[in-house]
Amino acid sequence: MDGNGRWACARGLPRAAGHRRGADAVRRAVRAAPALKITILTLYAFSSDNWRRPPGEVAALLCLFRDYLQSERSRLRQSGVRLSVMGRRDRLTVDLIEAIEACEADTAEGTVLHLRVAIDYSGRDAILRAAESLPLGFEPTRDTFRERLALTCGAGAAADVDLLIRTGGERRLSDFLLWESAYAELCFLPCPWPDFRASDLAAAVAEFRTRQRRFGALAPERSALEMA
Ligand code: FPP
Repeated sequence: MDGNGRWACARGLPRAAGHRRGADAVRRAVRAAPALKITILTLYAFSSDNWRRPPGEVAALLCLFRDYLQSERSRLRQSGVRLSVMGRRDRLTVDLIEAIEACEADTAEGTVLHLRVAIDYSGRDAILRAAESLPLGFEPTRDTFRERLALTCGAGAAADVDLLIRTGGERRLSDFLLWESAYAELCFLPCPWPDFRASDLAAAVAEFRTRQRRFGALAPERSALEMA
């Protein structure tokens, strides 16, 4: 969800105002996802490297996450959205941890959409923590390691990423879901996150559906031809 800061600066507003408008874009995306048959939506809200930002911006972001979880809790529950927060919790504020726990508990039965919010998340750290947690002598397979990763980073369920959208014009992964994105289709959009609309999500999904996913194999028609 990149581009909040630039969106605000372009309007002469403080960066925190861009993050607040970013929270409105989050609400729009969450509302739009089920109709697009999205069953898991993961939002990268705060990376473990974002602690390097000025303390005022970090504090504003943590308050915004808390406020979002508190204000959206019953709406999420009513719409069948299950919320999980991925990432480290030991560096978060007590009020944010409480808001996370309350929202996760309240929405645990949701089956329409699994909304995962990554806070103090690092893809590389998640892989390290999963590896460290393996019992001595245990030889993981891709599947058992994926399960372990989901468990240790709080993902709720092991799932590969199908479509990865990054707004704000940057074209990099920035330590997001590195293992899970091995075969993700990438979509880089120039629009800053606060301007992201349901129609942008729909367009990205429509484009995704046109992509041919081969996962390293041949396209079906080509492999049939070569067998003949
Ligand atoms: C990166 O763009 C964005 C962030 C570090 C914060 C993302 C947070 C939100 C969208 C707030 C709402 C989130 C939830 C879950 C309620 P940037 O601000 O660094 O953009 P820039 O590259 O233009 O400076």
